[in-house]
Amino acid sequence: MKDETALREAVCTLAASLFARGFSVGSAGNISVRLEDGVLITPTNSCLGRLDPARLSRLDAAWRHIGGDAPSKEVFMHRAFYQARAEAQAVVHLHSTWATAVACLEEVDARAPIPPLTPYFVMRIGETLPVVRYFRPGDPAMEPAIAAAARTARAVLLANHGPVVSGASLTDAVYAAEELEEAAKLFMLLRGERVRRLTSAQVADLGRRFG
Ligand code: 13P
Repeated sequence: MKDETALREAVCTLAASLFARGFSVGSAGNISVRLEDGVLITPTNSCLGRLDPARLSRLDAAWRHIGGDAPSKEVFMHRAFYQARAEAQAVVHLHSTWATAVACLEEVDARAPIPPLTPYFVMRIGETLPVVRYFRPGDPAMEPAIAAAARTARAVLLANHGPVVSGASLTDAVYAAEELEEAAKLFMLLRGERVRRLTSAQVADLGRRFG
């Protein structure tokens, strides 16, 4: 049984924490969490630093808006993850600087644009981070493209836009979004350096230990 009041509070607390540390600026980013009979999502044009638990958008099981302020225009992005991944209980979308920088690079591996440099990146994001082609923010056409990518990945990078990360809980999704941002920062800081990556045996060991 999910406690909707507690989830509303948690969305606002975690969003404020992301905002306070610069993972989101202005009204960028949105967060959703699954309820037993629908979804809570941050309102469109809201600032993650100043959300009101009572005003989060409430959607029913058919994704109709039934309460709170008007929902994020990125509902299609969030729905794509819930449709593709049975375990997904929350989705976080940010325009965080370093992950978005990677999403703007021309020449990256479109299945794994960030190499396995550190264990927590592998543990929280996994081995695959598809780069999904550019769509205008709020474009419903992104839904099938993201869903196709999300079938084999917990997170994606939207080209020239930013990361979208799912989690088996709200906290998991936020932690994974933070870990992705730090991994992207390390990757960008180390570009041009000779870098020691985790070996495939080390990556496989993390997969066995931490799933
Ligand atoms: P919303 O304000 O509609 O949630 O959109 C913000 C955003 O991050 C667009 O990608």
